[in-house]
Amino acid sequence: MKRPFAQLVSVGRAVPARVVSNFDFAKLGIDTSDEWIVERTGIKSRHIAENGETTCSMASDAARCAMVRAGVQPGELDVIVLSTATPDRLLPATAVDVQAELGATRAAAFDIGAACSGWLYGLVVGEGLIQSGSAETVLVIGAEKMSAIVDWTDRATCVLFGDGAGATVLKRSTRGKGILSTFMRSDGTLADLLYRPAGGASVPMSPQVLAERSHLVRMAGREVFKAAVRSMSEAADRALDAAKLTGNDIDLMIPHQANIRIIEATAKHAGIPMDKVFANVDRYGNTSSASIPISLDEAFEQGRIGDGTTVLMVAFGAGFTWASMVVRF
Ligand code: ACO
Repeated sequence: MKRPFAQLVSVGRAVPARVVSNFDFAKLGIDTSDEWIVERTGIKSRHIAENGETTCSMASDAARCAMVRAGVQPGELDVIVLSTATPDRLLPATAVDVQAELGATRAAAFDIGAACSGWLYGLVVGEGLIQSGSAETVLVIGAEKMSAIVDWTDRATCVLFGDGAGATVLKRSTRGKGILSTFMRSDGTLADLLYRPAGGASVPMSPQVLAERSHLVRMAGREVFKAAVRSMSEAADRALDAAKLTGNDIDLMIPHQANIRIIEATAKHAGIPMDKVFANVDRYGNTSSASIPISLDEAFEQGRIGDGTTVLMVAFGAGFTWASMVVRF
């Protein structure tokens, strides 16, 4: 018997109002240039949290937006899955803070840690809960306050990231539309290429950790770049194969927004022309697991997704993790 489809019935996003352009880094005392950043990454500006904005506040705002559009009340949510690499606290999960904020009293809420691939991982979990009959309505959020974990003295990383959140309401599909295929993979042997060495249970916070700034993000940029292209290309192939589609069948590709050169290389591999690829990395930088839902929301707003549109989403992140999904709207 064919399993029921899980359908993304609505999307919402929330990003901080404050915009930091490449030119603003000079005021922050960072030795970089607009030319260097744009040439290597395509990033021109990013949103950065201020005035008490948190992962929870951005996640809750994005969730409310998606829920209003879906006509879903907080009490109807069965599960809240929140992907984040920047939880507000180490205990409990940020998802329960969002649950309290929304008043979603009947929901089970938990976080997923799969870095930039986490929102797609969350959708796969939500799809499974719906297909198994364990849940009818699942809220899947990607929310990140990357500005809190980047090293603002390291020009090679601090220029890359931004803050924001995106959310979707997932329900059982009644019209044969929804998630057509999924793919997930990780490789923990590469974990130390993009990580935070300290601040967790094995190396807790200490004056030495603070002095060395080893609780902040460290990244081997070139190795990450190569792995990202390789993994996102594989992920695109695998989701297309599983859906029995090719790049020609895709109306819009929404890749994780880390770097325009990674996006272009992945699209080329998948045989998808750039006019069918959604990119907003120039205005948001890398918002980790929030990047795909933010992009999806903008794509709807710009009229690039309508009834019957087939979308390929592809992600890559720390871990390394990578994932992909074909969705028919
Ligand atoms: N401004 C000016 N110069 C800089 C900057 C900066 N912001 N950052 C580094 N440099 C300098 C370096 O010091 C180095 O100088 P040197 O040659 O005198 O030593 C030079 O630029 C080249 O540095 P590289 O790191 O080799 O530069 P590269 O061309 O590899 O570009 C970059 C760096 C943009 C980080 C690239 O490697 C990249 O995009 N990697 C992928 C990163 C990524 O996307 N990570 C996230 C994916 S996973 C996730 O989303 C969590």
